[in-house]
Amino acid sequence: MQTDSSFTFVLFGGTGDLSMRKILPALYEAHRAGGMLADSGKIVAVARHAADRGEYIQWVNEHVKPHVSKNGVDETAWSSFLERIEFVKIDLGNPEDFALLRDAVKDLPGIRVFYLATGPSLFVPICRALASVGLNENARIVLEKPLGYDLKSSNAINDAVGEIFAEEQIYRIDHYLGKEPVQNLLALRFGNALFEPLWRREWVESIQITIAEELGVEARGDFYDNTGALRDMVQNHLLQLLSIVAMEPPHSMDSDSVRDEKLRVLRALKPINPLDIGKVAVRGQYHSGVIRGTAVPAYATEPGVKPNSTTETFVALKVEIENWRWAGVPFFLRTGKRLADRVAEIVVNFRAVPHSALGASALRAGANRLVIRLQPNETIRLYCLAKQPGEGMNLASVHLDLAFDQFFREGQMEAYQRLLLDVINGRLALFVRRDEQEAAWRWVEPILNEWKASNKPPKPYAAGTWGPAAASAMLAQHGTCWLEEEN
Ligand code: BG6
Repeated sequence: MQTDSSFTFVLFGGTGDLSMRKILPALYEAHRAGGMLADSGKIVAVARHAADRGEYIQWVNEHVKPHVSKNGVDETAWSSFLERIEFVKIDLGNPEDFALLRDAVKDLPGIRVFYLATGPSLFVPICRALASVGLNENARIVLEKPLGYDLKSSNAINDAVGEIFAEEQIYRIDHYLGKEPVQNLLALRFGNALFEPLWRREWVESIQITIAEELGVEARGDFYDNTGALRDMVQNHLLQLLSIVAMEPPHSMDSDSVRDEKLRVLRALKPINPLDIGKVAVRGQYHSGVIRGTAVPAYATEPGVKPNSTTETFVALKVEIENWRWAGVPFFLRTGKRLADRVAEIVVNFRAVPHSALGASALRAGANRLVIRLQPNETIRLYCLAKQPGEGMNLASVHLDLAFDQFFREGQMEAYQRLLLDVINGRLALFVRRDEQEAAWRWVEPILNEWKASNKPPKPYAAGTWGPAAASAMLAQHGTCWLEEEN
């Protein structure tokens, strides 16, 4: 893909963790691939922890280089990448410093992208300071999650940013939307006539969406302890996945058609009745345990976490969608840290045959099942029943496998690379629109409020397991179980 869209990419939080691990490596990959970034495009890093460009480049060499390219660094591409980088030392607490930024970018070409890889408390002050020096014209602004802490705080940020930038200038990142397999979900659903007739309540008994992590809170204990799994993963990544799984076919792939359909799903989520919360929501917190042979400590002893913390590191929910396609079909969502495996997958359990002449196993729900593994190792697996060879008519579960790496050996793009290219090229489809974000907050808020009001601690689970037993009991009430519990 050749591009001539020139750009000036201003990176706030230029020495932060996200810049180091994701943003600068993604820009390097796009640069190395050739043709994706206009030759004239510049990256202007903004930070206060470096004295000048020389010191910043030294930091990039030391800290960013180890995070680029699984296949090793191409030294020629790396040095030409560094030539794209400029540096401006700014104290973000000091709005007058923004005149330095204005002077640094005024003669640089193309659209200006301001990437706010900073804490959300800085979003509004940065936007105001940009406006005060006239930098909100011909510009796009990228906001990292978390955007707010609840509906009210997210509205406050959106209102304030909205006074300075129009909605079409605002790119709210949810990096799950940039993942290749999540894109592929759209292809699977809307590129194949095969699944569409089955993708509805008449044929689907239940759907599970899991994002499980082996990692704990790493160095982010302080942030995480004030956030928790519901805000960190459910309000955004899991509800976005759910809306893609459940949405109606969009009439085109333009920015708003897909987002309009996702929004309809988010607005159709059955509100959670606080009295039912114990039946439809499970919150857990990991205790010490063993993951792949290594002992790991309890959440409450992680650095930055309060010793008596009641923050959840695990959530499981039963969600319903109130529309004709999905009425009555339970969607079970689950995410957690320090679980038994790192896996993100969607499991569509189809209904059993209405009458079986072939024995009871054909009457088992889930005999036909589609398992869409998003990561690691993207695969789609369709389970069916087949006759076991030999005498008699005994049925056994078999599956058809589609492993994507057998078909596409090259061209995989990291989520951040795709999303940054989309910002530079003005493609909004994979970014969260304000109304989607509000609908998601509106739906999760009663859960947050109820958990806070009830003051009950989260249910403990040992690290290296699949979370509290209550998460399994919730599915058992519906006559089903999580995929890994199938024997
Ligand atoms: C982030 C969360 O948004 O997503 C992290 O803040 C989480 O807590 C991460 O670890 C998971 O992303 P991925 O791409 O590794 O599945």
